[in-house]
Order: sequence, then structure tokens, then C-alpha cells
Amino acid sequence: MSFNVQPAPVARPNRCQLFGPASNTVLLPKMAASAADVVNIDLEDSVAPDDKEQARKNAIQAINDIDWGKKTVSLRINGLDTPYWVRDVVDVMEQTNGRLDMIMIPKAGNASDVYTVDAIVTAIEAQRSLKKRLGLEVIIETAAGLAHVEEIAASSPRMQAMSIGPADYAAFMGMQTTAIGGMQENYYMLDDVREGASERARHFADPWHYPTVAIVAACRTHGLLPVDGPFGDFSDPDGFRAQALRSATLGMVGKWAIHPKQIALSNEVFTPSEAAVEKARRIIAAMEEADEQGKGAAVLDGKLIDIASGRQAQVILEMMALIESSQD
Ligand code: COA
Ligand code: MG
Repeated sequence: MSFNVQPAPVARPNRCQLFGPASNTVLLPKMAASAADVVNIDLEDSVAPDDKEQARKNAIQAINDIDWGKKTVSLRINGLDTPYWVRDVVDVMEQTNGRLDMIMIPKAGNASDVYTVDAIVTAIEAQRSLKKRLGLEVIIETAAGLAHVEEIAASSPRMQAMSIGPADYAAFMGMQTTAIGGMQENYYMLDDVREGASERARHFADPWHYPTVAIVAACRTHGLLPVDGPFGDFSDPDGFRAQALRSATLGMVGKWAIHPKQIALSNEVFTPSEAAVEKARRIIAAMEEADEQGKGAAVLDGKLIDIASGRQAQVILEMMALIESSQD
């Protein structure tokens, strides 16, 4: 371990972030009543330019008036390349009364983007003598965002989470796809020609692997939650589950939902299974026994476990404890 101990991220469950456009006031109370841990009220790309002003007013009213229970409430503002974002930040900071937990900055390209929003938020919090300190989260979804992912992760003590945004990421990287996440039919390797085989097998790879791992590494280094973004085809639960399982395996803590059908799927994948919790408890017990005997390693079910296994098991048990403590 480096001398710098890896900081712990904010202690809250983040298995599912449910999005809904602030222009659609019918959806907002439904988001509050959902089983998502986090709700993201959207002012950005799901809101048409002509609706931006009204959507901002709707968002402020919804943040103030709706009972959001124990949910983490986040507002996705417009990008810093638009004329809308300043009013998004200023109006929501001046006209809401402490229920908002985070502002999400889309298309974050460098640390200065976060610094700029942080400066405005800090000034208004001070001017209004607000006790609660607003959190920030970003979407990594541009080439610059990926190139500067670590400086963005380190940009502000307000930073809590980072999501990957596969649709914009694909567009800004010039990728030849119009899908939002998931498998890409042209991203495969072809097996060698083999004697006797009638066809050459295709091995599909994951085009989101690299940015996912880069985000997880930046987040874990700086104590943030890494989150998987949207999966556009909400009529494909198997595709959603496969994507979520991959990102969970790589260390992400949750995934966006863009339709209620995706919430239970996300909660299921990002909640440790009973079997995983049971195994984690047995690993901890076996490691405690080994420790009493002055050993750093032990055998469980015929396999080696050591202090790192204990650390892995602890991640699962801590996640479970967080989820249990957050239930209404
Ligand atoms: N949050 C909460 N409830 C939602 C919802 C959401 N994001 N999306 C749909 N619902 C509700 C509907 O109101 C409907 O409720 P009802 O059964 O009480 O009538 C039910 O879920 C089924 O909805 P459905 O008819 O299948 O979808 P729709 O045509 O109303 O909406 C979308 C489809 C994609 C337009 C809508 O889900 C949506 O706006 N999603 C969020 C998009 C977004 O925020 N994008 C930005 C991030 S990528
Ligand atoms: Mg986007």
C-alpha cells in the first residue's frame, strides 16, 4: 500500500440512479416513490431547448415540495458549453431549502469545470448561511473527460461520484455506433481458420471496458463512487443485466435507470446476494481463526484465502450494512 491510504467514498447506497426529465412533472413524484437509491432530476439532454426555463422552475418546485424520503436527490444541470448552466446552479441554490444533495455536471472535461461550479455553489452557500454542504457528481462522457479523469476525480472535496455516459462518450470519441451502451456487433475478434471447423467463431469484446476501468481507478484513488450510466434499450432486461454484471465485476457500485423497469434489475445486481454475504462471513470467520493462530493465510473450501480475501469480504459486508441502514 502506498503511504497515502485510499480514502473511503461517501457512505450511502448508490445501486440505482433513476433519471427523469424535469419537463415531465408527472414523473417526478413517481421517481420519489420508486425503489431507486438516487434520483436525478434532469435539466440537460432529456429536456428540449424551449422547455429549459420551465423545467428549471419545475425542478426547484419538485425539490422543495415532494417528499423524497431517504433518497439522495441530485439535479443534472446543463453542460458548461451551454447558456443555461449558470441559471441552473444559481436558481436552484438560491431557491431550494436544503433538500438537494448533489448537482451533477455533465460532460465534465477537466478539473476547472468542477472548480467553476464549486465556486458558485460555495459563494451562495456562504451568502445564505446554509449548513448543508452540497455534493457534486460528474459524467465522464467526452474524450477530454476520459483524458483528464483523474484530475476531475481530485478536483473538489465536494466530489462524490462519477458516471460513465456511453452515448455521448461514443459520439465524442467518434465511435461508429448509435446504441446507448451494451454490446456492439462490430466489436469482435475472429477466430483463426481451423481445420475441420465449418465456421470461424466470433469473440465479442466490451468497448466500454477501458473507460469503465479508468473511472473506477480514478474514483477509488480519490474516494468517489464509480457508477455505470444508462442502458438505452429498456425492453432488454437480459442485456441490461449483462452490462450491469460486467460493471459490478469491475468495481462500479450502481447503474442508472432511465425507465422504472430497470430499477429492480439494478438493485438486484448491485445488492450482494445472500450466498455472497454468507461466503464473506465465512471468510472473515476463517481469517479471524487464522489470525488467532498467528497465520496470515487459511484454507476455506479447499481454496487459499488470505488477508486480501478478508478485505474483499469486508467490502461485501460493508455494502450490505449500508443498504440495510438506508431502507425506509
Ligand atoms: N421515472 C419514474 N416513472 C417513470 C419513468 C421515470 N423515468 N419513466 C416512465 N415512468 C412511469 C410512467 O409514467 C408510467 O407510469 P404509469 O404506469 O403510472 O402510467 C410507467 O412508468 C410506464 O411508463 P411507459 O409508458 O413505459 O414509458 P413512457 O412512454 O411514459 O416514458 C420514457 C418512456 C423513456 C420517455 C421515460 O421513461 C423517460 O423519460 N425516461 C427518462 C429519460 C431521461 O431522463 N433521460 C436522461 C438520462 S439518459
Ligand atoms: Mg450525455
